[in-house]
Formats: sequence, structure tokens, C-alpha cells
Amino acid sequence: MNPELILAFESSCDDTAVAIVDTDYKVLVNLVSSQPQHLEFGGILPELASRLHMSNIMLLTEAALTQANVSLEQISAVAVSINPGLIGSLIVGLSFAKGLAFGRQLPLITVNHLLSHIFANLIDHPELEAPFLALVVSGGHTELVHFKTFIDFEVVGKTLDDAAGETFDKTAKLLGLGFPGGPIIDKLARGGDPEFHIFPRGLKQHDNFNFSYSGLKTSVLTYLSALQPDYIQSNLPSIAASVQAAIIEPLVKKTVRWAAQHQLGSILLAGGVAANSALRSALESAAAAKGIKCFYPSLQLCMDNAAMVGAAAIPKLKAGLFSELDVNAFSLKGTKTI
Ligand code: KG4
Ligand code: ZN
Repeated sequence: MNPELILAFESSCDDTAVAIVDTDYKVLVNLVSSQPQHLEFGGILPELASRLHMSNIMLLTEAALTQANVSLEQISAVAVSINPGLIGSLIVGLSFAKGLAFGRQLPLITVNHLLSHIFANLIDHPELEAPFLALVVSGGHTELVHFKTFIDFEVVGKTLDDAAGETFDKTAKLLGLGFPGGPIIDKLARGGDPEFHIFPRGLKQHDNFNFSYSGLKTSVLTYLSALQPDYIQSNLPSIAASVQAAIIEPLVKKTVRWAAQHQLGSILLAGGVAANSALRSALESAAAAKGIKCFYPSLQLCMDNAAMVGAAAIPKLKAGLFSELDVNAFSLKGTKTI
């Protein structure tokens, strides 16, 4: 059977993204329009993001169809990310997708944003099969998810307070390094000593698979407040490497321990923080030591994009799991988890 085409949208934060993927996980086009307008504010302005999504989404959709040389008649389903995300931004993408689905009488597939990050792995590795354990680490979330099948999954651990990505971002802000902080700390840390200062690791108990980063954030603040600016400047790479090590260690240990205890052969790393070079290599080697394979998406697919939304919609399309047109952007009954 010929693969079907899915038109997918992602607008959960500050990137407007449109993609077309086929049901064999092949990406025909994957466009992202970022919003540099937020840079001067040192973070994302939600209202500005929604308005920019509104002016971008139509043009980007037309560009995606043109670049892929695909007409709307060839599309089999419309996919869009919902919860979690900035509510105004999500509503723009969802309303646009609903309009298209209604106008063209196409099935509407809504995809949890974190779930879509996990399925970015399928684009690079379409041969992957469940069961597997996924570690999703993004700006606002840190979750361990056990997939029994592609559509039957359970959250087995999550952060009790702050997220790993947020800890990278706040640390970079305290160090005056800019936003988003993850990529900056990642690069800087390559030239530093991760044992320069030992920051606390959250929830170290063996049988605890949740994460906590609020203590680490406070500890970074307390540590930096006691130091002279010159000392901080001359030891920036080692300070960055030490904070990074404290963020990564619990992620790696807990993920590999859970997977090993439950005899899982594969770990999928996902989310913006999955771009972190130290996390990738530490998780890969810790998993390999237990005979577990570790997968992570290519760098471009770690960031918010719509191809991953299309990929996550494939199992739902195959299973006929469609959304009604009255679905809302926070349809998971108020939960913030996957
Ligand atoms: O998944 P994402 O694009 O947005 C959310 O859905 O939250 O993740 C953004 C997060 C930011 O916190 C950013 O600092 C972090 O991913 N990030 C990184 C790296 N690249 C992006 N963190 C650590 N190392 C990186 N190389
Ligand atoms: Zn994301």
C-alpha cells in the first residue's frame, strides 16, 4: 500500500512549524519560522508569540505545500500539537488545523507536544519498535515514559518541581550568558572540569525515579552570589561543566536503572535538552554498559518542529484515533504530563 501523507503543525512556543510526512516516517518538507522578536526581552512574550504565529502559519503552510509539490487533495490527515505549551500559541495552530480539517473533510489528529518530541526518533530510526523507555527533557518538562506499544504508554517518573532545560536556562541567565541557555552551557562546558564544584544531585534514592531541580537552582544561585565576578569569569567553563554534570547525572542514572530493571532493550532520548552533547554521550555509554541501545534524534529534530508532530500522528492515524473538532488545546483534563 502507498504511504499516506500527513500535514502537521507545531506552534506550542515561539516557533511556527509546518511539515508534510508520509506514513513510512519520510519527511517531505519540514519548515520552521522562528521568532527573533523575543530576543530583546530575554525570554518568550506569550502574547507576541501568538500574534506572530497568526501572521506566519498561512504563509508557511503554502510554502510547505509548494516545496513538497503536494496539493491539499493528496493529504490524508491533519496533525497538530496540543498540551503542553503556551495556550495562545497552541490555540493558533489548533484553530488553523481545525479549519483545514473541517474545510477539506480530513481527520484531525491532536498530538501531545512531549509525545511528538519522542517520535522525532522514529524519523531517524523508522525501524524502532516498542517496548522502549523514553526520557523527554525539554524547557518545561522532564519525564520518563514507558511505551508498551506506540499508543499505550505510562509516565514512570517526572520532575517534582523544575525541569532540566529550565535549569540550564536559569544558570545561563545567572551567568549573564543569554537565552536559551542550554546550547551556550553545552558549548562552554566542553572546555571545563565537571568536578570543579560538586553541586547537589536531586532525589538520589535508588528506588526513586522522579527528578528534582529546584535545590540545584538554589544552590547555583547561592554559590554564584558568594563569588567575585572576576573569579566567575575566569572559571566560566568549569562552572558550566559542573552545573551541567549535576543536571545530567540523575537523568542518566535513573533512566538506565529503570530500563535495566524492566529488561527494556531501547532508550529514546527526546526534547530540546536531547541536543546536549554531554547528555547524549553519557546516556549512550551508561546504556551500552547494560546492553541497552540508546537513540536520540538528529540535532535539528531535537528542537520544536512539525515533522515530529506528523511522526507521532502516524500510529494514531493507523489506529483511527482522531479528535473531534471541539477538542481544546489543553484536552488532557488539566494534567501537565504526557
Ligand atoms: O523542547 P524544547 O525545544 O522546548 C520546549 O518544549 O520546552 O526545549 C527547549 C529547551 C531549552 O531549555 C534549551 O535551553 C534546551 O532545550 N536546550 C539545550 C540544548 N539545546 C536546547 N539544553 C542543553 N544543551 C543543549 N545543547
Ligand atoms: Zn518542545
